[in-house]
Amino acid sequence: MTGTSCLSDECSGCRTVTWQQETELCDYLRVRTGIVIHEHQRDDLRATLQSAVTRFGYAQADDYIQHLHECSPDNQELEYLIANVTVGESYFFRDKGQMEFLRTGWLPQLVARGKGLPGSVRVWSAGCSHGQEIYSLAIMLHEGVPARAQWNLQLHATDINAEALTVAVAARYSSWSFRSTPEAICKRYFSPVNNEFQLREEISSMVNFSYLNLVEDEFPTITGGLHSMDLILCRNVFIYFDAATVEAVMRKFARCLAPGGVLMLGGADMVNVDIEGLEMQRAGGVFYYRRTGLDRVVDLWAPEPVYLDNSGDADDVPAAVSREEALAADATPEKTESIETLDQLVSQQRWNEVLVAADACLDGEGESATVLLHKACALAGLGRLGEAAQLSQQAALLDPMDKHAHFLHALVLIEQGDPDSAESGMRKALYIDPRFLEAHHQLGLLQLRQGQRDKGVKSLVNALEIAEAGDPECTIHGAADMTYQRMAEVLRKEIDIYSSTTSESSA
Ligand SMILES: C[S@@+](CC[C@H](N)C(=O)[O-])C[C@H]1O[C@@H](n2cnc3c(N)ncnc32)[C@H](O)[C@@H]1O
Repeated sequence: MTGTSCLSDECSGCRTVTWQQETELCDYLRVRTGIVIHEHQRDDLRATLQSAVTRFGYAQADDYIQHLHECSPDNQELEYLIANVTVGESYFFRDKGQMEFLRTGWLPQLVARGKGLPGSVRVWSAGCSHGQEIYSLAIMLHEGVPARAQWNLQLHATDINAEALTVAVAARYSSWSFRSTPEAICKRYFSPVNNEFQLREEISSMVNFSYLNLVEDEFPTITGGLHSMDLILCRNVFIYFDAATVEAVMRKFARCLAPGGVLMLGGADMVNVDIEGLEMQRAGGVFYYRRTGLDRVVDLWAPEPVYLDNSGDADDVPAAVSREEALAADATPEKTESIETLDQLVSQQRWNEVLVAADACLDGEGESATVLLHKACALAGLGRLGEAAQLSQQAALLDPMDKHAHFLHALVLIEQGDPDSAESGMRKALYIDPRFLEAHHQLGLLQLRQGQRDKGVKSLVNALEIAEAGDPECTIHGAADMTYQRMAEVLRKEIDIYSSTTSESSA
């Protein structure tokens, strides 16, 4: 550590930031958050450091940096730093070329996939900032999906910056956010409030916002709904990351995409990495990645399962192929019969192998709630929601006191767009175990999505109380690498985000 200490309020010299302190802060940010400060951003970093020292009443920069080394991720001093070094600037319908591709290429293909029947669309805006990106997609889906009410539209948006998420949940914007938005869209979906514009609830309620650090947190997750995505938008986020961090995050994204699913980065984010399961594609002037592999059956609308093909022209969005073709191309995992192996495969999210192992167990030992539940979990992870719902319900019938069966069934029902049945499933799980942390958490998020703000926040507070009572270092059952401590941090953020959204602004 560098710098000297001085107790005088008059002395401003101690608050002067040295090059070494800046460098130490750069190293800290890279390791802790994956954020890389480039040479041209050093002035901003220095200004942020100086203002943080004053704002939080530190005698000198060293003390602030020392505190950062010791604090938890939800600490307000760290959050202030992150919020200031990652510029959250965004606007509606940003990058016309990409938006046109999504509107005229990606979306019609997705709709056509169901051969005219309603299906599902899963979209994730990773690094969503104030929400303009995911709301643009919500408006696009609202306009472009025929018989929309019968579709299951799942829109998720996450960010590391809780302040930005609070703005996103409130969904109120200044005119500067509309610099790329057609006037007709503004008029149709926004109402003027004082000098700002409030997004209609019909659109804002389509999106689930949650706190997530792309670098430190684990995904895909079934509980968080971050899996089997048809589209991931992670635009203008990688500009902050070093190459190793970008690669690690891209690998996680690859595992979150449904085969044929699209990952779109910002124009300035294109990276030169070779990630298994991701193919770089081009449509006109737009580049994107497409998920290869045949491990998801898109069965949400088809009586016969339809598989997605990865071959075809660069400009094409995936086409359906027959089950036989798909199975022939898919490697068959080795058979295994033990429940322990099954447990392991589930914890590693190796869904295809779970299916084979579960069937082997069911053949050998007959119907067992545990095995059915594992199989249902794999089906949910592969996006085969109809089968997952059926099997988790079957598991709950076989063992009515299995809280995980009710919980998984409720999660699948949320994804299928049946919030009322999902809520009753969550309540059954909580009846069996009133201290079931994940059920309180998911019930809270469900209530918030239903516009029940007070009840939702109360459920999150219940979850927080349980998370704080757990062993901080211990992993929560079924939540990929999520410790009680991390869960408590995430819950505190979410409580903050939703508590500070007034009823008026969320209306
Ligand atoms: C420039 S904004 C991009 C907003 C939007 N995607 C767009 O393109 O308009 C970058 C966002 O990435 C978020 N971000 C930076 N590092 C992150 C991390 N490690 N995990 C999650 N979000 C992160 C920032 O908080 C910020 O909101």
